[in-house]
Amino acid sequence: QESPPLYTKEEVYSHRSPETGIWVTLGSEVFDVTEFVELHPGGPSKLMLAAGGPLEPFWALYAIHNQPHVYELLAQYKIGELKPEDSAPPTLETSDPYAHDPMRHPALKVNSQRPFNAEPPPELLTENYITPNPIFFTRNHLPVPNLDPDTYRLHIVGPPGGQSLSLSLCDLYMFPKHEVTVTLQCAGNRRSEMTQVKEVRGLEWRTGAISTARWAGARLCDVLAQAGHQLSEKEAHVCFEGLDSDPTGTAYGASIPLARAMDPEAEVLLAYEMNGQPLPRDHGFPVRVVVPGVVGARHVKWLGRVSVEPEESYSHWQRRDYKGFSPSVDWDTVDFDSAPSIQELPIQSAITEPRDGETIESGEVIVKGYAWSGGGRAVIRVDVSLDGGLTWHAADLDAEKQPPRKAWAWRLWQLQASVPAGQKELNIVCKAVDDSYNVQPDTVAPIWNLRGVLSNAWHRVHVHVTS
Ligand code: HEM
Ligand code: MTE
Repeated sequence: QESPPLYTKEEVYSHRSPETGIWVTLGSEVFDVTEFVELHPGGPSKLMLAAGGPLEPFWALYAIHNQPHVYELLAQYKIGELKPEDSAPPTLETSDPYAHDPMRHPALKVNSQRPFNAEPPPELLTENYITPNPIFFTRNHLPVPNLDPDTYRLHIVGPPGGQSLSLSLCDLYMFPKHEVTVTLQCAGNRRSEMTQVKEVRGLEWRTGAISTARWAGARLCDVLAQAGHQLSEKEAHVCFEGLDSDPTGTAYGASIPLARAMDPEAEVLLAYEMNGQPLPRDHGFPVRVVVPGVVGARHVKWLGRVSVEPEESYSHWQRRDYKGFSPSVDWDTVDFDSAPSIQELPIQSAITEPRDGETIESGEVIVKGYAWSGGGRAVIRVDVSLDGGLTWHAADLDAEKQPPRKAWAWRLWQLQASVPAGQKELNIVCKAVDDSYNVQPDTVAPIWNLRGVLSNAWHRVHVHVTS
């Protein structure tokens, strides 16, 4: 019996385009699926996410593949096996502060490896209303701390005359468990479109710095009340500190107004579960803050300390970042103290399918995307244009019902439209409206700002049409 040809991981990885052929692996087996890509029932673009590497992380997300007929189909494309030494787990350098960061899903588009910042590709982002944990966008400023759930303690500083608390995870489980579906969006989502107007400082997020999960935990108001805090008359802020810190020992920190923290209807959580699982390490294990309707930066992960202060957090990320400015303000003239820190975010929407630059067939087009607004404001409509904004169609919104003033999660939307015969290209545009009738600005230039935050202009995608 002949032994099958052996390949290295590098050889497999060099086969990920139509020119080289498209290879994938499952276990130690190697497959050339070039001919199958166009036939894939889940669409070519999804299969291509796994091109040049292992199928397991993708098939774990889409368990529909876990059936005999799928394995039989794949077997027809087998061309050989991986060399045995290529199955060994990768080695890590120990001096590297990021060496103990967790493993990540290969579908994530990485904007920075250290610290880890990554977003799901658009065609996976709107595949599910609830974003699967492995592809939820990740925004880290520092290495991921490695916390032991048995010795973990959350410090809640009490008021004068009150009582400070040092809560174990078990203590936290004793508070009533509250669950809420919340969309988290980074202030820098869609920054790459601002960069096209003029350079900005920041990571090049595309449309994926946004994701949705079902979070569960104790309500912050219940925990603060136990420590003796009350909603006092004077202005106050709840400050959060993470257990991730830089080499000088400075921790990530942020704050929210006490009024929001103490309002049971605002549903601010000390979350220990994400989609029914303990929080993944990248998303704050074992406890993070979830502040529905508010910018991601305030959802402090790896939470270590909570205190009530007369002033906002003195953290760099509260005072020297995550603020909006006029387009004419530059790094020489910026006065960070002159602008409020971002809390609630403005109305946002984006197209996830088709992709910019894609070629589609004439006849019919399906446009998909998401829409969300901050502060619990509900998305009431998404308008989609195929002709650059001359004429508009109302998209179909998913049927997820949300209580009034507490629309904490996004709406996914879709539009099915016919493409007029002879049309060579489409300029697809989307814009959403919330229940305060806030709308998105039509272009990016007038909202450009030096840090590239709050990028929420009409989203535009250009596609070619073949007849
Ligand atoms: C569906 C094969 C890679 C996402 C399917 C089905 C088959 C298949 C046979 C239909 C299953 C059924 O309905 O019983 C394959 C093969 C792959 C591959 C042979 C690799 C060579 C991928 C990857 C992804 C993916 C990498 C995601 C990133 C999907 C999805 C569906 C699907 C979402 C469901 C489509 C629907 O509900 O209409 N695939 N697949 N597939 N596949 Fe794959
Ligand atoms: N909390 C800590 N401790 N450290 C961080 O770097 N990043 C913040 C916030 N909480 C951060 C943090 C920012 S800017 C965002 S957008 C969200 O976490 C991202 O949460 P995610 O990685 O779970 O998507």
